Amino acid sequence: MSQRTLVLLKPDAVRRGLTGEIISRIERKAGWTITALELRTLDQETLEQHYGEHKGKPFYEPLVDFMASGPVVALIVEGERVIEGVRALAGPTDPIAAAPGSIRGDYGVIVRENLIHASDSEESAEREVKIFFPGRA
Ligand code: TYD
Ligand code: MG
Repeated sequence: MSQRTLVLLKPDAVRRGLTGEIISRIERKAGWTITALELRTLDQETLEQHYGEHKGKPFYEPLVDFMASGPVVALIVEGERVIEGVRALAGPTDPIAAAPGSIRGDYGVIVRENLIHASDSEESAEREVKIFFPGRA
């Protein structure tokens, strides 16, 4: 089933020069296509919309501060089972629990600085694509 997903390469990935490496892993998957890509510094309003489900949790404020601390690369990726697929490439939220070979498992240590966001369902993907690329709705 062809889908689309919203991916963010977080400020740690940009600062550390890992965006090429991460994009390359996504690009190499058979049949997946990057259909939008932009380097952008996120404002508070965008982050509140994007991470609204986490508002009120103890990690929310530091997460938003971190996500606004430098530019991110926002992408739309389209293809077969791409929502589940990019989540699998990323690995679990906690990089220490993520297997080597996954993006978070290979490059991350701190939960907050886990390099990549990827939509977790078709519903989230549609909502998040509209936040970051309103023209692609
Ligand atoms: P979440 O949606 O649970 O994880 P994922 O990115 O895997 O979908 O959380 C959003 C982000 O919030 C997560 O990528 C990193 C940060 N976060 C923390 O800083 N501390 C935490 O305890 C959790 C659960 C998440
Ligand atoms: Mg999430």
